[in-house]
Amino acid sequence: MNFIKVTEQVEPFVALIELNRPKELNALNHELMGELHQALVQLDANEAVRVIILTGNEKAFAAGADVKQMADKTAIEMVMEDRFKTWDQIKNTKKPIIGAVSGFALGGGCELAMTCDMIVASETAKFGQPEVRIGTIPGAGGTQRMTYAIGKAKSMELILSGRFLTANEAQSYGLVNHVFPLETYLIEAIKLAKEIASYSPIAVQLAKEAINHTFETHLEEGLAFERKSFYLTFASNDQKEGMKAFIEKRTPSYTGK
Ligand code: HXC
Repeated sequence: MNFIKVTEQVEPFVALIELNRPKELNALNHELMGELHQALVQLDANEAVRVIILTGNEKAFAAGADVKQMADKTAIEMVMEDRFKTWDQIKNTKKPIIGAVSGFALGGGCELAMTCDMIVASETAKFGQPEVRIGTIPGAGGTQRMTYAIGKAKSMELILSGRFLTANEAQSYGLVNHVFPLETYLIEAIKLAKEIASYSPIAVQLAKEAINHTFETHLEEGLAFERKSFYLTFASNDQKEGMKAFIEKRTPSYTGK
């Protein structure tokens, strides 16, 4: 594993996955997501693991999908390759996943955090869906999970403006379970994981599945619609301009074409 680090027993029955592309602020390239997919399949099948913690580093949980890897793609390539399908394993994992988030959780990084079952954040965490600023939209559940979590008005503002939420705002909106100082957020996430891991794994798994049933049927349709719309933005000049401008570190100029 090059882009993630897996500790199978950070505590008895608790596994820890660390995203490990620090120079790129854990930008989620296809290789990293492939490794994450593989690790989750293995941990889900491992009887010695009952709860999984997914974390990044102090500065970034993840700053989004890798813009450099997708900037030049056409909409047809996006649809035909359908690389973002590997992300489905996160929601398909039967064991509970706790996101331990510090620093940037943006775009695909925020979507990854929201796909976790609970989020424990450090005071320095920042959540946002800034895709609109680079000419595209969320494509891994942001429009759906954000709206379920915080409601339509707040979700509209966040996704249409690309603004960020502080950890405390995210907690008051109901996106985040707990906020702790940077020094202790991971310890607290592990404590929560240990408590959950001390209970019947069967009861825990069935409870997770039952909770997800409250919105899952609508969610499936919403996710498919969102992913196609995300791919469709790659047919626009604005997506090309937005991502190119990010890579070239300049302000984009949008024409509506
Ligand atoms: C590729 C990225 C990246 C990303 C950061 N980097 N985010 N590379 N994809 N999403 C790289 C930068 O290019 C830079 O590399 C290095 O990481 C450090 O980033 P800086 O920008 O220099 O850091 P800083 O000034 O601290 O700014 C941090 C930041 C900014 C505010 C988080 O990096 C940023 O705006 N990142 C992009 C956020 C974003 O738009 N996310 C959504 C992506 S689209 P170099 O080589 O220059 O040093 C998306 C769609 C999801 O996620 C769809 C479905 C999966």
